[in-house]
Amino acid sequence: MDLIPDAMPLLVLQNLSITFVETGTGDLKPMVFDVSLEIDPGEVLALVGESGSGKSLTTLAIGGLLPRNARVDGKIAFARMPLLALDEKKMQKVRGKHIAYIFQEPMACLNPLRTIGFQICESIRIHNPSLTRKEIRETAINILGRLYFQDPEEILRSRPHQLSGGMQQRAGIAMAICNHPQLLIADEPTTALDMASERIVLDLLRELQRTEGFAFLLVTHNLNIVREMAQRVAIMHEGRVVEFGKTFDIFSNPKHEYTRELLGTFSF
Ligand SMILES: Nc1ncnc2c1ncn2[C@@H]1O[C@H](COP(=O)(O)OP(=O)(O)O)[C@@H](O)[C@H]1O
Ligand SMILES: [Mg+2]
Repeated sequence: MDLIPDAMPLLVLQNLSITFVETGTGDLKPMVFDVSLEIDPGEVLALVGESGSGKSLTTLAIGGLLPRNARVDGKIAFARMPLLALDEKKMQKVRGKHIAYIFQEPMACLNPLRTIGFQICESIRIHNPSLTRKEIRETAINILGRLYFQDPEEILRSRPHQLSGGMQQRAGIAMAICNHPQLLIADEPTTALDMASERIVLDLLRELQRTEGFAFLLVTHNLNIVREMAQRVAIMHEGRVVEFGKTFDIFSNPKHEYTRELLGTFSF
């Protein structure tokens, strides 16, 4: 009997380690150790762990966004492509098109001087040079509509400071998904928002993940969200992934002491 091979994971991190080389002294500061993870196409993977455990560094390494003095060892494969071997020019093509980011601070991906319309249209244009101006604008309006902006035309004309924090984050999400990435990486996307905006943004992300079908790497403290959204979860502690598996399994039977502490009385 032939065995049907498993679907290929979309992203594989294998023994990823991140070390900072101190400028001047050359001292080595290892921060992330031997992280191995994978995400299947269309899967939601939550990355959870205390502050300083290496979550952000791990996510930045995927897109080649670490500072210059960070040394990265191990392997990162995206759709089988070894990302660590790409130069910055090739990486830029992957980023924004196939792998997109949302950060805690919405302004991290918005230019304060440019209108939202300019920024979204520019991002669409760069990755779709064959589209006309009209098509680009229509695409942008369509995407803003999907983010439930009631008056997309007005948002296109706005500069980021004219929007509330929640609206800025929604505009950031519009930028992130406008080229239909295969992988969306969100690093605590709602931590800077008030509770009402947090709910709106999370519901939107969940809906978009279902309709767009992108794989979603979500760094969050919110265990309710993990339970609601993530098929698998990775627990980070002191620079290492101490557990990685199906959300249900980890929540119902945490193996590592730190995971037990983190979950406390939280039940599935
Ligand atoms: N540019 C940097 N230079 C030196 N150390 C850094 C740098 N960025 C982050 N770190 C350190 O790496 C560790 C992990 O950081 P980070 O990935 O941001 O944690 P998390 O996102 O889990 O809160 C922290 O101790 C942090 O201080
Ligand atoms: Mg972080």
